[in-house]
Amino acid sequence: MRIVYVNGEYLPENEARISIFDRGFLMADGVYEVTSVLDGKLIDYDGHAVRLNRSLEALEMRNPISKDDLLEVHRELVRVNEIDEGLIYLQITRGSDGDRDFVFPDPETTVPTIVLFTQAKPGLAENPVAERGIKVISIEDIRWGRRDIKTVQLLYPSMGKMMAKKAGCDDAWMVEDGCVTEGTSNNAYIVKGNKIITRALSHDILHGITRAAVMRFAKEAQMEVEERNFTIDEAKQADEAFVTSASAFVMPVVEIDGVALGSGKPGRVAPRLREIYLDEMRRVAV
Ligand code: PDD
Repeated sequence: MRIVYVNGEYLPENEARISIFDRGFLMADGVYEVTSVLDGKLIDYDGHAVRLNRSLEALEMRNPISKDDLLEVHRELVRVNEIDEGLIYLQITRGSDGDRDFVFPDPETTVPTIVLFTQAKPGLAENPVAERGIKVISIEDIRWGRRDIKTVQLLYPSMGKMMAKKAGCDDAWMVEDGCVTEGTSNNAYIVKGNKIITRALSHDILHGITRAAVMRFAKEAQMEVEERNFTIDEAKQADEAFVTSASAFVMPVVEIDGVALGSGKPGRVAPRLREIYLDEMRRVAV
């Protein structure tokens, strides 16, 4: 059985308890991070720790744990659950003052709730899906206006994945005013000629930790990167497309709304970036 971490304690998963009044449960008043584990080590831990603080600050929420202690909890969970390849999920909510109220509880007397658990995912890196690429559908982006804060309001992304599944596809790209914002749980890119095109950072999309690393590696490999909006029609005419996230790394996209990109197989750029990303990040994993 998994050992999880809840508010300072390591417990078997079936003994972990959270209040029914927790604002994460009642109001989706919480933030989260997902960090991948390869060879039993954390990938880009610092990036995730920095973004966690950014999300907390944006919601005026206290961080209940120090940076060093949080790293230690990640490592201990990897150790006790013997995770070689997988993910660590972290969630911090505004906690509970024992009732339901729209008004935030007093931060002096209400301690945020913190939960971490591991997910074993053998084959995360040597993923056969990356060999064939994924198919996406496009859906309207009807989420709120602060998608840069990594909140646990994931109902619409879940619905998007279900719409994709029903259409016989793997994922959905969200579109606003004709332009792609991002995937349900990843950042979206197209490749035209030698150019990698992805939406610029703003409140409209999550500032992906994998995105930042992949853009750096692309530039170091002399690839041209352009940060700008692109339409879903432009995407369907691209040579290649891909998504990035902590759980998918770099994942080729081979079809959008039934339109095959290029040869309908992963192209040159995405598999190359996936290889560089995995090599480089494994080297500096903690
Ligand atoms: N999702 N955009 C959205 C909407 C996301 O949910 C995610 C991550 C990303 C990519 O961010 P990063 O590279 O930092 O993982 C972009 C995580 C993996 C999840 O919800 O499981």
